[in-house]
Amino acid sequence: MPGIGVFDSGVGGLTVLAALRRRLPTARLLYAADSAYAPYGERDAAYVLRRSRVLTRFLLAQGARVIVVACNTATALAIAELRREWPEIPFVGIEPAIKPALAARAAGDGPVGVLATPATLGSDRFRTLLRQHAGDSAVLLQPCPGLAEAIETRGPHAPGTLDLLRACCAPLKAAGCTRVVLGCTHYPLLSDAIRDLFDHAPLQLLDPADAVAAQAARVAQGLPLPADAGALCAWTNGDATRLQRVAEACGLRLDCVLPLPEPAAAAA
Ligand code: DGL
Repeated sequence: MPGIGVFDSGVGGLTVLAALRRRLPTARLLYAADSAYAPYGERDAAYVLRRSRVLTRFLLAQGARVIVVACNTATALAIAELRREWPEIPFVGIEPAIKPALAARAAGDGPVGVLATPATLGSDRFRTLLRQHAGDSAVLLQPCPGLAEAIETRGPHAPGTLDLLRACCAPLKAAGCTRVVLGCTHYPLLSDAIRDLFDHAPLQLLDPADAVAAQAARVAQGLPLPADAGALCAWTNGDATRLQRVAEACGLRLDCVLPLPEPAAAAA
């Protein structure tokens, strides 16, 4: 049955999937988590594109009519090529919420902090976004190598994950940032921990998940997608229990979690 396909390098995209579920309670949603190949954020464009193709092909074979790239890194490095390769399929991507963060900035505010993967921050697409919206505004870019991987392998609340997060947030805290852009879909899983690290000082965390969900819902409206009582199936090549746990923490109820199959060598 037709549905909306969503993918990420792992559990991070569940933060986007949850926003999509709130917008479309009855749509059939399909989620692919590429945890065995995560993190994407410290890989090159060819790797991320290769994996994005595999996941797109898989979701289309499951009946996806729209693909939501619920990964900033894959959006930055691969979505343009995916659109070229599947011109008949609408792709909805996600990118760091620089524009709303700067729009909300008032005189005297500290710089806008951006937490993202090294690959996202180093991409041409991100540089263009920054050029278009940041101008001379103060933006503090903080690459977070290892953080998405720690969330994947240790979990969002593990001491090692929180140590890494502390190190990534320290420069932002020292610079007096009051707005922090969560530029990786894994990082909203750490929102409470980030607030704790900023000692609950006035802090706005910017996560574009709902804007992405709204865009995906608009796109889906134009397609023949039958209501399906809200079926939600996930596939992972990583730890299914961790995926379930993160999904529950995001308020999602998964109808099934299945192994994400390896494609035949010729299709990979
Ligand atoms: N969740 C992804 C993102 O939004 C990728 C994290 C990773 O695999 O490094 O960038």
